[in-house]
Amino acid sequence: MTMKITTNTNHVKTALFLIPPFLVSVVFYLHFQTQLSIFSPVCRCASQQPAAAGAVDDHVDRLRASATFLPLKDTRQGAETWFISTLNATAEPEGEARNLVFPSPKSASRLLCLSAPSRRDGAKNAYALAWRDALPHGAALLPGLAFVSETAYDHSNIWHGLTALLPFASWHERSGCRARPARWALFHHGEVRTEMSRWLATLAEATTGAKVVVEAFDAAGGPACFEEAVVFRANVAGMNKERMLAAADFMRCKARAYCGVDASRAGGGGDPSASLRVTLLFRTGGRAFKDEPAVTRVFEKECKRVAGCAVAAAHVNNLTFCDQVRLLSSTDVLISAHGAQMTNMLFMDRNSSVMEFYPLGWKQRAGGGQYVYRWMTDWTGIRHEGAWWEPVGEPCPNNPDILDCWKDRQIGHNETYFAEWAARVFAATKERKKGSAAGAPAGGRPREEATICRCS
Ligand SMILES: *[C@@H]1O[C@H](CO)[C@@H](O)[C@H](O)[C@H]1NC(C)=O
Ligand SMILES: *[C@@H]1O[C@H](CO)[C@@H](O)[C@H](O)[C@H]1NC(C)=O
Ligand SMILES: *[C@@H]1O[C@H](CO)[C@@H](O)[C@H](O)[C@H]1NC(C)=O
Ligand SMILES: *[C@@H]1O[C@H](CO)[C@@H](O)[C@H](O)[C@H]1NC(C)=O
Repeated sequence: MTMKITTNTNHVKTALFLIPPFLVSVVFYLHFQTQLSIFSPVCRCASQQPAAAGAVDDHVDRLRASATFLPLKDTRQGAETWFISTLNATAEPEGEARNLVFPSPKSASRLLCLSAPSRRDGAKNAYALAWRDALPHGAALLPGLAFVSETAYDHSNIWHGLTALLPFASWHERSGCRARPARWALFHHGEVRTEMSRWLATLAEATTGAKVVVEAFDAAGGPACFEEAVVFRANVAGMNKERMLAAADFMRCKARAYCGVDASRAGGGGDPSASLRVTLLFRTGGRAFKDEPAVTRVFEKECKRVAGCAVAAAHVNNLTFCDQVRLLSSTDVLISAHGAQMTNMLFMDRNSSVMEFYPLGWKQRAGGGQYVYRWMTDWTGIRHEGAWWEPVGEPCPNNPDILDCWKDRQIGHNETYFAEWAARVFAATKERKKGSAAGAPAGGRPREEATICRCS
């Protein structure tokens, strides 16, 4: 495998050295034409002299043939750079996640072409750069902008997928909301993926205003070249805190608008006048609480001690995307077991609070990945109020060290602990809300803030 890549790379270098000087002028000609042709794709041959046109066509044919395909996954590289490894991604404009843009000065105005038949081996898929007027033989030009996402994670898991989506949301927002994807090309280790979770696709649609079309790359025939493409290949890597918060604000706003949620009026637990809205978001099956009614009673009891507090309880599996947006938009304190459903905290106002729960064994065995929602509170501007790790219980039989045994266990409860913790969080959250309401106009936030999402 490595041999093959090395050979290919040498081939490119050799090819570059062999480009005769007169071809350089054709390169510049096409460079110029590519820029021009964005505005008038058919102008190229209209005014050519026949003989000169023949010579140019000859050079164009040579350029066509010189587009060299390299493995999409370069196995000599680490996971952050193996996708399109010959180009250096940069965090531009400042603060964005590291990206590649085609065509651009860095690509010498060439487009990105992908030949990607494999869903199993990224090293069998390939990319090449080519000028719009000299695409490789058999290549199709796919019109519009493509959002190309390579992730070591998984686009069908909502938390993992969100970290892949965030840079695109930021890019779209930064373009003044003009950069709308005509298609998405999804990769995992260079392997084609055609699935995006419905939650994520709906969020992407709400964010960009464009229906999500996932490129399958199974059209019989040659490679696909994107008229325009932006590639993020390492999720949010390179993105600064300010851009992350701005992107989260933007997605929250867009999701609320998409679902018709006016967060300035939304109430909690069906009670629009509630001044502290607590939501219990339950899972079903893996990592569910063993005794939901008992857990509910503890938090209801603590809520009753706080004037204007209301509790809503829901199972995430019977909520639509917009139900989730609506519910979390009217939540000040989210109480939930560790799991993908917590990703919905994206829809909570900044400065809201999250309380997280883990089954027995996680603290000792689950490693750094168990803190993902703590990280997420950081880039959504929410407060992580700590976690409860079930301290005692039956040990796992047979395989005490394997996460699989502990991963989806159900979660018990400790009434004393939950009550004391809730009392602290409820009181502090209510105090904070009072503080920020004092600075806001009567009736909560200004209306425009809830309904108009800024495109910078
Ligand atoms: C790639 O870009 C980064 C940041 O812009 C820079 O520090 C680095 O030197 C570049 N590497 C190469 C090989 O050009
Ligand atoms: C929601 O799901 C839970 C658990 O799966 C179930 O017990 C409950 O009846 C459902 N509620 C509604 C309103 O469908
Ligand atoms: C969040 O709370 C802090 C104080 O805890 C306050 O300074 C800040 O302005 C609040 N932010 C928002 C968006 O309400
Ligand atoms: C429950 O929590 C309380 C308060 O933190 C603690 O003192 C007690 O030991 C806990 N009970 C169990 C069974 O862990």
